[in-house]
Amino acid sequence: MSSSKDVIQAIRSDQDVLYLLDQRHLPERVEYLTCQSGEEVANAIQALAVRGAPAIGIAGAYGLWLESVRLRGTRDFEHQLFRSAKRLEDSRPTAVNLSWALHEALKVINGLSQDAAIMELKAFADNLLTSDIKANRALGDSGLSLFSEPIRVLTHCNTGSLATGGYGTALGVIRSLFRENKLQEVFVDETRPLLQGARLTAWELHQERIPARLITDSMAASIMAKGWVNAVIVGADRIALNGDTANKIGTYSLAILAQYHHIPFYVAAPLSTFDSETLTGNDIVVEERNPEEIRVIKGRRISPEAFPAYNPAFDVTPGDMISAFITEQGIIKPPYDIALAHLKEQRT
Ligand code: MRU
Repeated sequence: MSSSKDVIQAIRSDQDVLYLLDQRHLPERVEYLTCQSGEEVANAIQALAVRGAPAIGIAGAYGLWLESVRLRGTRDFEHQLFRSAKRLEDSRPTAVNLSWALHEALKVINGLSQDAAIMELKAFADNLLTSDIKANRALGDSGLSLFSEPIRVLTHCNTGSLATGGYGTALGVIRSLFRENKLQEVFVDETRPLLQGARLTAWELHQERIPARLITDSMAASIMAKGWVNAVIVGADRIALNGDTANKIGTYSLAILAQYHHIPFYVAAPLSTFDSETLTGNDIVVEERNPEEIRVIKGRRISPEAFPAYNPAFDVTPGDMISAFITEQGIIKPPYDIALAHLKEQRT
């Protein structure tokens, strides 16, 4: 189900149905989940069948469209749609892309008839999907300007076609580097607890034969000390106005390690991940997930049952530890408070 070699189609819509590549089963099997209501999409987002900030924004928009189709002809159509948007928004709180997409979708249908609203919601979601792929390709290529020699990159979590409309953010930059012969090797953090690196990033890189090696999260310091890493490139779930960035748990540790070893630390993200309403990282809500995700790996219990565990899904890296942001409109360099305030002005 790929439209081109480097775009795995993880999100696909058809007549009143949404198909989501169920990422819980990767890399063992490629299986699509069928959703026909907002509730089914919210459950899929919550359970991480679909994940990654841009991907859940797109899935959320399709979820609202599915709900509008389901509610066609009901008296309290609009009220129910607002309730569904809230349910979708609450399914994962940290990534700004989800709440942004839902709020924008609701704006689009303000005052429309039911039939027109259904059509507009579908067009909105379709457009979000295609524009995200376009943004990622531009973002990937804009990252090329940062590197003159072939490099070895360390990345975390999964930021590829699975996490976006297609191509990817940090993995998009890696794809562009590979295409331009500017990539020696990728080190893929396994990304505990849910192994998005080992299961998903490794799967995407393997399909395209991009040279890569898997490491456990705790090996990053050691390979940096050996001089094996020229740059760290990660994605983002929400970027505050001062550059503080929420991303998969473990990102902040990598930033500290990179700083110690004088390795540049880049965040690749589309403009839709920059949140002009959030002033600093302190204002970002970090999702806490079920501790069972730490105690159990792939169905196998690894600690005493119900042993207390803490499971934040994300951490916040201070903006002043980030060398630059790679976006579809080019590279954003510090000082971020000035650069991002300027970006906010341009977007309003
Ligand atoms: O919990 P996940 O798998 O949704 O977390 C994903 C990440 O943290 C990604 O790095 C981020 O969403 C950027 S994806 C382009």
